[in-house]
Amino acid sequence: MTSPLTPVLSDTWDADQSWTLETYRAHGGYGALAKALDLEPAEIIQTVKDSGLRGRGGAGFPTGMKWGFLPPDDGGPRYLVVNADESEPGTCKDIPLMMAAPHSLIEGVAITSYAIGCTHAFIYVRGEVVHVYRRLLNAVQEAYDAGLLGKNALGEGVDLDVTVHAGAGAYICGEETALLDSLEGRRGQPRLKPPFPAVAGLYARPTVVNNVESIASVPAIVERGADWFTSMGTEKSAGFGLFSLSGHVVRPGQYEAPLGITLRELLDMAGGVRPGHELKFWTPGGSSTPLFTAEHLDVPLDYESVGAAGSMLGTRALQIFDDSVCVVRAVARWTEFYAHESCGKCTPCREGTFWLEQVLARIENGTGVPEDLDVLLDVCENILGRAFCALGDGATSPITSSVQLFREEYEAHITGGGCPFDRAAAELFE
Ligand code: NAI
Repeated sequence: MTSPLTPVLSDTWDADQSWTLETYRAHGGYGALAKALDLEPAEIIQTVKDSGLRGRGGAGFPTGMKWGFLPPDDGGPRYLVVNADESEPGTCKDIPLMMAAPHSLIEGVAITSYAIGCTHAFIYVRGEVVHVYRRLLNAVQEAYDAGLLGKNALGEGVDLDVTVHAGAGAYICGEETALLDSLEGRRGQPRLKPPFPAVAGLYARPTVVNNVESIASVPAIVERGADWFTSMGTEKSAGFGLFSLSGHVVRPGQYEAPLGITLRELLDMAGGVRPGHELKFWTPGGSSTPLFTAEHLDVPLDYESVGAAGSMLGTRALQIFDDSVCVVRAVARWTEFYAHESCGKCTPCREGTFWLEQVLARIENGTGVPEDLDVLLDVCENILGRAFCALGDGATSPITSSVQLFREEYEAHITGGGCPFDRAAAELFE
């Protein structure tokens, strides 16, 4: 059988010192930038539109279309901001990408900046990952030293500066407008949309905000063409992406494959669920996406199919939970995260996630009452679609889906005075 893997972004990750400019260049790096600079900016935008590349940060918005939303040049600055604030529980693709191949991101930044007419780009990386911040700073410096960034970097008197900025460690700063507020020096809280950043973003100027993996995909698309990209994936979900397998899987890690691959195929390559256990539930795209079970092993992992099956492709963070896991406990931990990370700007999310955490805690510790399941679902209903940004909606997804799929497990906590898994474990020692 030929491998369904399509290593493009991850192609050089195993090379010696893969993060250096020397290694990146030895593998053809910055060839796409040279090609791009011979094209008109509009041609690059058209190529990315034709490729069908969709935002890899989770929402899947068409990247080329987003670039096309920028208003005509008025002579003032316009910005590219790379969202490297990867924080979704389970999501772990951008950080390895930036560690192993920071120049693929920088090359993508240079090409995109040229295409959209930006002379100052920003990479906003989450505060906790100091190692990534240092790696990016070093790589950007290497690019400056090599004349790939800085004065006249894009030729014909066109400059490009790249600033790497570390946030202070807040999940909400991954929301693009909260990120922009944080970058401007304010407390990170989402802004009202519209206007979208494309119209009024950083310093109220036209701004493209794109995910790391989206921008790092641009060089290969420019170099090999839109048809090459659309030859992989599905009609509406073109190309390849990083699928991050974590949890109870024999070989966790990054599997770069065409969109539309299934978890069953990915698990085959990853050695399966750990021996002696069965798959119980999994997240197709991080903890903000409704849970799937073994019934969904053959759902093609593309935006349309996952949506039709009742969840979202999101960030392709496939967290695998086997039959040793208490779903109530897993969901309670995620909910604690959302309650802690809620920025407090809007009432449904601020108050709602607080109450979700309280109710789940009492169900988990055995002091829940039968009405609690209705309370949980009612609070979820009052958050969904009423919160200021996607954080609130995301917090409800694991709860509503797990109650739907594993209602009897919640009930067992309530009627049995606590976690049945804990009781079973305790019996082993009696
Ligand atoms: P969204 O669908 O509101 O927007 C997606 C992008 O399209 C944004 O850049 C937005 O500015 C742009 N856009 C949408 N409509 C537009 C229009 N009419 N004109 C111009 N631009 C437009 O989604 P959002 O709130 O940005 O992201 C939600 C997703 O983020 C979730 O689906 C989740 O998967 C993902 N996520 C990822 C995390 C991570 O760590 N990577 C963390 C949390 C959530």
